Amino acid sequence: MAKLMHLAGFMMASPVTHSHAMWRHPRSSTRFLEASYYQDVARAAERGFFDFVFFADVLAVPGRYGNDIRQAVEHGVQSVATLDPSYVALVMANATRHLGLGITRSTTYYAPYDIARAFATLDHLTQGRIAWNVVTSNADAEANNFGFRQHLAHGERYQRADEFLQATSKLWASWEPDALLLEKQGRFADADKVHVVDHQGEWFQTRGPLTVPASPQRRPAIMQAGSSSRGKDFAARWAEIVFEIDPTPEGRQAYYRDLKARTAAAGRDPNDIKIFPSFIPFVGETEAIAREKQAYHNALADPISGLITLSAHVDHDFSVYPLDESLRNVDVGGNTGLFDVARRISQQDNLTLRDLGKLYAQGVLLPQLVGTAEQIADQLEASFDNEEADGFIISAAYLPGTFDEFSDFVVPELQRRGRVRQQYTGTTLRDHLGLGPVEFNFN
Ligand SMILES: Cc1cc2nc3c(=O)[nH]c(=O)nc-3n(C[C@H](O)[C@H](O)[C@H](O)COP(=O)(O)O)c2cc1C
Repeated sequence: MAKLMHLAGFMMASPVTHSHAMWRHPRSSTRFLEASYYQDVARAAERGFFDFVFFADVLAVPGRYGNDIRQAVEHGVQSVATLDPSYVALVMANATRHLGLGITRSTTYYAPYDIARAFATLDHLTQGRIAWNVVTSNADAEANNFGFRQHLAHGERYQRADEFLQATSKLWASWEPDALLLEKQGRFADADKVHVVDHQGEWFQTRGPLTVPASPQRRPAIMQAGSSSRGKDFAARWAEIVFEIDPTPEGRQAYYRDLKARTAAAGRDPNDIKIFPSFIPFVGETEAIAREKQAYHNALADPISGLITLSAHVDHDFSVYPLDESLRNVDVGGNTGLFDVARRISQQDNLTLRDLGKLYAQGVLLPQLVGTAEQIADQLEASFDNEEADGFIISAAYLPGTFDEFSDFVVPELQRRGRVRQQYTGTTLRDHLGLGPVEFNFN
C-alpha cells in the first residue's frame, strides 16, 4: 500500500501561534481563555483525520527586544499570553475520540518524576493519545522564572535532556502492563511487577516506582524539533516525531535524509522517526481568492512584532540595529537553526531588518501554501514524493478557520488521491503513526 501522509496541527494555548497576524485577523476568535475555543480547533482537526495537534510552549513573556517586556505585551506576540497546554489538551481530548495531543515540557526546568507522572496520567485519561514535545528551552527569561540567573549552555542542556529521558523511561517502565490486579477478594496489584528504579545520575536521582500504573502507550510518543547537530542526535536517539521549519525543498530534503541516517546510526529503524515540515495554507475556491486571503493576512503582520519574537527565539536584542539596513552578521544564542534560515533568506532576497521582521511576523519563516484545494494538494504531494516529509504540520492564519478549510477542502482532495487516511483505524497516537509497541531503552 502507498505510504500515507500524516497530518498534524500546530497550536499554542494563545491567540498567537506562528502567525502574529492571527489575533488581529477578523476571522480569528480571541476566546483563547475558554475551553470551547480549543474544542472547536480539536473537532476541526479530527474532521480532517489529523494524527495529532501539538502545543508549543515557552515559559516566559518575551523581553529580549529592548530588554523590556512592554513592547511584547502591547504588540501581542508569541508567548505573551499562553495557558498551560496540559490542561487544554484534556478539554480537547474530551471533545474528540481519536485525535492525538502533544504537549511541550522542558527538560531544563522540570523534574523527571513530575513529568513521568503527568504524562502517564494524561495517557490514561486520553486512552493513549498523548505525546511529549521535548524541549530544552533557550532563553534567560525562562531561566529567571525558575530562579536561575541564565540558562544552561546548549551542550549541557542536551546532556541533562538525555539523562532526563533515561530517568523518565525507567519510571514509565516501573509498572509492568499487567501489574494492576484489583482483586476485590485478593491483591490490589502484583508487587513482583512494580519496581523501584533507583536512578542515580549526574543530574537526577529518583527512586520510583511511579504512582501511576502502566498507561495505554506505556509512555507518551516523543516529539522534538532539534536543528543543531546535537539536537538532531538527541532526536535520532529518542524521538518518534520531529518538526522542522525550512522554506526550501532542498533544505527539507537534506534535513530528512540527515535525520533518517542519524536514526539508523543510533541503531533504530528510520521508519520509527516521522519528520514533519511546517506550512501555513491559504485555501480558496479560486487561486485569486486564495492569493487575496494571503495578502490580507500578511498585511496585518507588523515588523516590530516579528523582531520581538525573533529576539526571543535567538536570544539577541535586534532593537539596537537600524530597521532599514540589512541583517548584521551577529552571533546569537537560542535557536541557532532558525537564525541560519533567517540569515539565508535575508541574503538571498536582500531583506532589510524591517522586511525580515514582517516575514517573521507572518509566520516564523514557515512557507505559505496558496491556491485551490487541488493546487495545495499538488504542493504537498510534490514535497512528500521528494523525500522531504512523512507528514505535515499545518499552522494557522486564523483559528479555527484555517483548520476548518484544510479539513473540509484539502483533505477530501488528498483522500480522493489516496494520499491520506480515509478513517482512523487505530485507537492510540502510536497506532495513527504506525509505530509498534514501546521497547524501553535505558542506555
Ligand atoms: C516547529 C518547532 C516547534 C518548536 N517548539 C518549541 C517549543 O514549544 N518550546 C521551545 O522552547 N522550543 C521549541 N522549539 C525549539 C526547539 O525545541 C529547539 O530548541 C530549536 O529547534 C533549536 O534546535 P537545537 O536545540 O538543536 O539548537 C521548536 C522548534 C520548531 C522548529
